[in-house]
Amino acid sequence: MYPSPLVDFGYDISDYTSIDPLYGTLADFDRMVSEAKKRNIRVIMDFVPNHTSDQHPWFKESRSSRTNPKRDWYIWRDGKGPGQPPNNWQSWFGHSAWKFDSTTNQYYYHHFYTEQPDLNWRNPQVRKAMYDAMRFWLDRGVAGFRIDAVSRLFEDPNLHDDPILPGKNAYGDPNIAHKYTDNLPEVHEVLREMRRIVDEYPGNPVLISEADEPNITELTKMYGSNNDEVQLPMDFQIADVNRLSAPDFRQLLNEIDRNAAGGQPHYFFSNHDQPRQWDRYGDGVHNDQIAKLIAALLLTTRATPLMYYGEEIGMRTTDPVRKEDVQDPIGKIGWPQEKGRDGERTPMQWDASKDAGFSKAEGTWLPVPPSAANYNVNAESHDPGSILSFYKRLLSLRRSEAALRDGLYQPLSGEDPFVLAYLRKKPGNGNTIFVVLNMSAQFRKVRFDLERYGVRGKVVEPLISAPGSAGRPLSISDLNIPPFGILIGAVH
Ligand code: GLC
Repeated sequence: MYPSPLVDFGYDISDYTSIDPLYGTLADFDRMVSEAKKRNIRVIMDFVPNHTSDQHPWFKESRSSRTNPKRDWYIWRDGKGPGQPPNNWQSWFGHSAWKFDSTTNQYYYHHFYTEQPDLNWRNPQVRKAMYDAMRFWLDRGVAGFRIDAVSRLFEDPNLHDDPILPGKNAYGDPNIAHKYTDNLPEVHEVLREMRRIVDEYPGNPVLISEADEPNITELTKMYGSNNDEVQLPMDFQIADVNRLSAPDFRQLLNEIDRNAAGGQPHYFFSNHDQPRQWDRYGDGVHNDQIAKLIAALLLTTRATPLMYYGEEIGMRTTDPVRKEDVQDPIGKIGWPQEKGRDGERTPMQWDASKDAGFSKAEGTWLPVPPSAANYNVNAESHDPGSILSFYKRLLSLRRSEAALRDGLYQPLSGEDPFVLAYLRKKPGNGNTIFVVLNMSAQFRKVRFDLERYGVRGKVVEPLISAPGSAGRPLSISDLNIPPFGILIGAVH
């Protein structure tokens, strides 16, 4: 909601301390934050430090002459020769990451779209300006930031070429490893500085890092060696498990749960950059049941869960069918292999009326998926078997069971190829919660001996289960879990 020419739909910011008139005013924003506070809701801002819009006054100045005081706020370099960019670095959104600018006959670096020039984070004035922007919002009462694309802040000053890998990507460019433009060690220095800023404010504001870390070791570094960086690094490892695999999830959950920093895991499955979970994990037959299973995984493991609008009603990815309907520029650059991210950004489905009750305008920016007729908040609110009702039950269980919020995570299922099972328990009073998720299309018989984990009970009282509803107590040593079945219960 920052002012933006909307090339990357708001991720190209032209003013960091204002609201785009398309969405309202600063006064509207202040009112939203204060009304949210009254309801115990805290508002977190998206913050985009890696790049600005090319329409930002800073960049306009920077590109105007080589001697402009803001020249060094961005990354300007000479080409290797006529028509040749400084090196082989590629934009995440296709083709060279360098754009020639004829005003001063130099190239500028852009990790994303050409309209998103990268800021030079080695320049102290840039840091100050961006930190001032953070303070601007903290002073207005925001509860923290999701820091966009933060691993991309620095590039190798010596401009080494990135290593070329076999094959080509969706844009027809050779695959490369972004070795010299991603995850440079200086990122951590900036994260520590950002953390010091938010720590000056009351209410323990949060920093969330959006960084697609290659493994849990790198992810763990985001917490900081003294827990002095971000509190919640988004776990793309979990989000990128693109198949319903008990062994894959088990391994990653175990790894992050035991991270050396002792940091709080932060899981998500859908967001505005990747296909929705309903289709990604669905098998074409049991998708609704699988959507519930993923919900149970998200809301019963030990993590701060991150939900994306619409997953709670089973919204599905609805990609454009024709190139001329694409809004997201990467969908045009990479068509048809890369259709862009429109499919996961369609209007929220409130009811079965025109445009799903999202808008009264002539048409919506992106089309309303046909599934909105049945998958909408209104219809699902009246159906106890719906995905939405299931999410509501899970969320209310999280509220009533302390073990689910901050109890220990104890994996149970050993090497089982199909079933993921775990305990959540808190020392002292309160229930021990037992979770079994069948990630296969067959009935699975499982048995557990919980005594070795210091849990005496032999029966589980189902609190939530699906398919079907929570029934009578079951023996933990003799369970038969239906296809993609979910059992969440208290051990007695
Ligand atoms: C992040 C955002 C994505 C955006 C990119 C560039 O990955 O989530 O939507 O296009 O950064 O700002």
